[in-house]
Amino acid sequence: MADNDVLQPDGADTRDVKPRIRRTHLSLFVRDPEASAKWYEDVLAMQITARGPQWVFLSYGRKHHDIALIRAEDDAQLGGIGLQHYGLEIDGDLEDLRRLYGMLLEKGVPIVKTTDHKIGIGVYFADPDGNRFEFFCETVPDDEEGKRVLGAYNAPSEPVVIDPLYT
Ligand SMILES: [Fe+2]
Repeated sequence: MADNDVLQPDGADTRDVKPRIRRTHLSLFVRDPEASAKWYEDVLAMQITARGPQWVFLSYGRKHHDIALIRAEDDAQLGGIGLQHYGLEIDGDLEDLRRLYGMLLEKGVPIVKTTDHKIGIGVYFADPDGNRFEFFCETVPDDEEGKRVLGAYNAPSEPVVIDPLYT
C-alpha cells in the first residue's frame, strides 16, 4: 500500500468509491429567471415546478427539476469560461428533429449551427441570455457502438444542412 492511500475506518479503499449517476440537472445563471422560464416553457416544453424570488425550477415532466434558472448578478458577463452548450437528446427521429428545427425558426430562436456528429445530428440554439442548447438526434442507437464510432472519428463536428419541417 502506498503512503498516500487513504483507508476508511473499516479498511475500505476510497479509490473504490465511484459515483453512479442516475440522471443530471443543470443550474444556469440568467438575467431574469421569470422571463427566461417563459422561454423554457415555450421552446423546450418544460413545466415550472418551483419558484422563489431569485430562481425558477423547471422539469421535463418526470422529475421535480431538470433545469434551475438562477438570477445572475446585475453586472454578470456572458460568454467566456463556463457553459459551452447543454445537449438534449430528443425522443424521436430525424423527422422529429427537422420539426423541432422548424419550430425554433418559427419562434425566432437564434440558431447557432446544425452539425453532423456521426453518432447523431445536432441543432444548436441560444436561450434569451445566449446560453447554448442542442437538440440532439441520436443516429447510432446502440450505446456501445456509439462510443466506438465517436472515438474512431475523434468526436466529429461537421456542418450539415437540415431542411426544417413546418407543421
Ligand atoms: Fe452536444
